[in-house]
Amino acid sequence: MPILLEMKDIHKVYPNGTAANRGVHLTVHEGEIHALVGENGAGKSTLMKILFGLESPTSGTIEYKGQPINFHGPRDAIQQGMGMVHQHFMLSPSLTVSENIVLGNEPKRGPFSIFRDRAREYREVEQLVATYGLQVNLQAKVETIPVGQKQRVEILKVLYQGAKLIILDEPTAVLTPQETDELFDSIQALITEGHTIIFITHKLREVMRISNRITVLRAGKSIATLQTKDTNQEEISRLMVGREVLFRVNKVPAEPKDVVLAVRNLEALDDKGTKALNGISFDIRSGEVLGIAGVEGNGQTELVEAITGLRKATAGHIRYQGKELLEASVAEIRKMKVGIIPEDRQTSGASLTSTIAENLMLDHYRNPEFKRGIFLNKKKIKQFTQIMMQTYDVRAQNEEIMAGALSGGNLQKVVVARELSKNPKLLIASQPTRGVDIGAIEFLHREFIKRRDGGAAVMVVSAELSEVMALSDRIAVLYNGEIVALLDNTPDLTEQEIGYYMLGIKKQEQEEVR
Ligand SMILES: Nc1ncnc2c1ncn2[C@@H]1O[C@H](COP(=O)(O)OP(=O)(O)O)[C@@H](O)[C@H]1O
Ligand SMILES: [Mg+2]
Repeated sequence: MPILLEMKDIHKVYPNGTAANRGVHLTVHEGEIHALVGENGAGKSTLMKILFGLESPTSGTIEYKGQPINFHGPRDAIQQGMGMVHQHFMLSPSLTVSENIVLGNEPKRGPFSIFRDRAREYREVEQLVATYGLQVNLQAKVETIPVGQKQRVEILKVLYQGAKLIILDEPTAVLTPQETDELFDSIQALITEGHTIIFITHKLREVMRISNRITVLRAGKSIATLQTKDTNQEEISRLMVGREVLFRVNKVPAEPKDVVLAVRNLEALDDKGTKALNGISFDIRSGEVLGIAGVEGNGQTELVEAITGLRKATAGHIRYQGKELLEASVAEIRKMKVGIIPEDRQTSGASLTSTIAENLMLDHYRNPEFKRGIFLNKKKIKQFTQIMMQTYDVRAQNEEIMAGALSGGNLQKVVVARELSKNPKLLIASQPTRGVDIGAIEFLHREFIKRRDGGAAVMVVSAELSEVMALSDRIAVLYNGEIVALLDNTPDLTEQEIGYYMLGIKKQEQEEVR
C-alpha cells in the first residue's frame, strides 16, 4: 500500500516545559487501520494534535500524499481531507444531530444560495448513515442522545466534511462492548469505502482485533512499528511499559464472612434534582470484592457519594458494621475505618497544594505516635512518609514535593497509600485506575486483593468492564439508577453478557438481585 502520511522526528515541548513528543516517527499507509498505542501520557494525543494543526511541533517534518505540509490550524487539515474525533466530544448540545453534522457546511439553495437546503441536508446525511451503518436519530437534539450516538455524530461530521484520513482518539473509552462492536463494523465500512484510519487506544485486545499495523509510543518516543499479524498482546504491552504485564489479577477464591456494608432501598437525586438512585439494595461482606459495572452516568457517582456522605440520600438505609451511615458526615465516615478512593482525585482525593507528606499524614496527625508532647514529631513523620512512598512505589524526589507536581499515576498511589494506611474495614474505590499507567494499575489491583484477603470489604466502581471483571468476586450492574443484575464472577461470565445488562436489554428478576 502506498504511503499516505509520514511524520518524521517530531518533537514537542509545551510552554510549561513538558516534552510530550521526543522524536516520534509515524508512517501510515493508504487504506490501513493504524493503531497508535501507549500508556497514558505517552504523547499520543499530542502527536495527533500536531498532525491536525491544533498544536505546532517544536521540530520535525510531516509529509502528506508526498508533499510537506505545515498546517496553521484544523481548518487546513480538514481542507486536506483529514478529520479528527477527539477524546472529549465537541458538539453543540442544543442543535439537532443533523444540524451538528452539517454545521459550517450547510447546503444552500435559491438565488445567491441564501436559503438553507434542508431536503438536501437530510438526503446527504442519510446517505452517509446508510453507507457506514452509523445509526443516529437525525432530528434528536444532541443533548438528549447517549454517548455512543454522540460519537457517531462526530464521525458523520468529519465524513460530511470530506475526510479521507480519520483520527479516532480513544474512541472506545466511553463505549459498551456492544457499541464497540458496532463502531468496529463502521470502521470496516470506512476502510471498504477507501478511508484510512488512525486509531488511538491503550486496549490491546482491540488493537489485535482491528488494526493492520501498530506504532507503540513510550514516554514521548516511538518505540516500534509492528504488523498486527506478527505480534501479540504480550509483546505490545512489553513495548509499552518496557516489561511484562499481567493482564489478570492473581487471586484465590474469596472467603466472604460477615456483612460489612448493607445498603437497602437507597434512593438519591442527581445534581439536577432528578432521581439517580431508584431503590438500590446490596450487601458487601468481609473478604469479598463487589464490582459495580455500568455505562457511566447510570448512578455510579451518586451511589459512591451517598455511601461516603457526600450526597444526602432521599430514602433507604446504609448500615456499616451495624451503624446507620445516612446521617454521618464525610469526616465521621472517614474516621470509621472506611477507605475512600474517590473518582476525582484532583479535586477531592488529594490536596494538590500540599506536600506528599502532608497528604499521606491526613488521617494520622492526631495519632499520638506522631506527637512529641503537643508538637508533631517531624522525624517520625518523615520516616513514616518515606516508608509509605517506598511501599506504594510513589516516584518523586522526596516527601516534600507538592502533590500537584506528581503525574496522575503517582498521585493516585499517594491517595491509595493514605487510604490503605488506616487499615480500612470497608474500601470504596471509584475509577481507581483511570489515567494511571499499566505498571501502576497492576500494583493497585494487587493491593486491593491483599486487603480483601485480609478481611476488608471492597467495592470497586469502574467504567472499565475488564477491570471490574478482573477484580470482582461478584458484579452488580447499574442501569438507570437500579441494580439490574447481581452476578457471581464465575469463569464462564462474559463481557457480552454483562453488556446486555449495561444496555438495559436484559434484566434479572428482583429475587435474583439480592
Ligand atoms: N497543553 C499541554 N500543556 C502542557 N503539557 C501537556 C499539554 N497536553 C499534554 N501535556 C502533557 O504531555 C504529555 C503527553 O500527553 P498526551 O499527548 O495527552 O498523552 P496521551 O494522549 O498518550 O495520554 C503528558 O505528560 C501531558 O501531561
Ligand atoms: Mg490522549
